[in-house]
Amino acid sequence: MDNFYGPGRNHLFVPGPVNIPEHVIRAMNRNNEDYRSPAIPALTKTLLEDIKQIFKTTTGTPFLIPTTGTGAWESALTNTLSPGDQIVSFLIGQFSLLWIDQQRRLNFNVDVIESEWGQGANLEVLASKLAADTVHTVKAICIVHNETATGVTNNLAAVRKILDHYRHPALILVDGVSSICALDFRMDEWGIDVALTGSQKALSLPTGMGIVCASPKALGASKTAKSVRFFFDWNDYLKAYKLETYWPYTPSIHLLYGLRASLDLIFEEGLDNVIARHSRLAKATRLAVEAWGLKNCAQKEEWHSNSVTAVLVPPNLDSSEIVSRAWKRYNLSLGLGLNKVAGKVFRIGHLGNLNERGHSIM
Ligand SMILES: Cc1ncc(COP(=O)(O)O)c(C=O)c1O
Repeated sequence: MDNFYGPGRNHLFVPGPVNIPEHVIRAMNRNNEDYRSPAIPALTKTLLEDIKQIFKTTTGTPFLIPTTGTGAWESALTNTLSPGDQIVSFLIGQFSLLWIDQQRRLNFNVDVIESEWGQGANLEVLASKLAADTVHTVKAICIVHNETATGVTNNLAAVRKILDHYRHPALILVDGVSSICALDFRMDEWGIDVALTGSQKALSLPTGMGIVCASPKALGASKTAKSVRFFFDWNDYLKAYKLETYWPYTPSIHLLYGLRASLDLIFEEGLDNVIARHSRLAKATRLAVEAWGLKNCAQKEEWHSNSVTAVLVPPNLDSSEIVSRAWKRYNLSLGLGLNKVAGKVFRIGHLGNLNERGHSIM
C-alpha cells in the first residue's frame, strides 16, 4: 500500500515543483503545433517582453531554455566565463553546494565562502576578499538568493553595495530558482548580471523551462567567454531573436502557452501583491512552527525565507519519518531534509499560486 495516495487531493507542499493552477493546466491542454508557424514566434515575442517584469529589468535580455534550474546555472556560467576564471561562490546549503560542484566541473577556479547550514552568505568575508583583490582577478560572484534546502534568503542589495564600495567589476550571477516571483527581486536596481529561475517553482508551471536573464554587461562578457557551449549558447538565441524566429531548436510549446497563462495570473494579481502574499503566508507558517514549539533552521530573522521554511525537529526525532507519515496518513507532501540536514529538518514550501488555505488560487 506504500504507493496508495489515499482519498482526496494530494496536498503538495514541497518547495518545488509546486501546484499548477487550473487556468494554467487548461492553457497547456492542447495539441502540438509547428513552432515555425507565425503563432509561436508571435507568442514568444510577447513572452520575452513580459518576462522581464518578473526580474524587474528593462535592460536585461531573457532566454527561455528547454531545461531545468541546473541547465540555467550552466547557461549563466558558460556564457559569461572562461575555464580557469576565478569566481567566489557561497556555500550555505545543498543547492549552493550543487552549483559549486557544477562550477568546479566546468573548470572554474572556485573560491568558496562557507557558512554553517542555517546561516546566510558571509558578506564580511566577501568584502575582505574584494578589498584584497585590487587587480580584479575575481571575475564573478555566484550566489543563491534563496537556499531552498535551509530556507535561508541572502541579501543581494548588500552584495551589490560591497562590489560598488570596492569598485570591483566582477559579475554577479544569481540563482533565483526559489526566489524569483516569490521574493522581492530587483535585477536592474541591484545590478545583477545574470539571474535565473526554473518553471516549476514560483511560476507554478511544470518542470522543463529554465529562464535566464542577462544584463548588458553579461551579454558583453558572452562575446569573449571561452567556455565550451552549444545547447546553452546565448548567441544562437540572439541570432534567432534578430530573425524573429526566436528558437535555435524545438521549444516546448505547451510550456510557452503555460507561461503565458501563468504571467497573466501574476500580472492580474500584481507582482508586488504576489510578493506580499508570499510574505504573509511565510509569516503565518513561521508562527505555526513557533506554536508547535519547533525552531526554524534559518538562524536569524534577516535570513527567514518567504518561499520555504525548513523546520528543525528535536534530536530524538527523524524528520524523514514525519515526511513519510504526512504522506501516508494525510496525503500531504512535505520536503525532506537534504544532505547535512537530512533527518534534522523537514521543509514546508509556500511558494507559487497558493492562498491561505493552501489551495491553488485558480
Ligand atoms: C535554489 C535552487 N537552485 C537550483 C535548483 C536546481 O533546479 P532543478 O532541479 O530544476 O535543476 C533547485 C531545485 O530545487 C533549487 O531549489
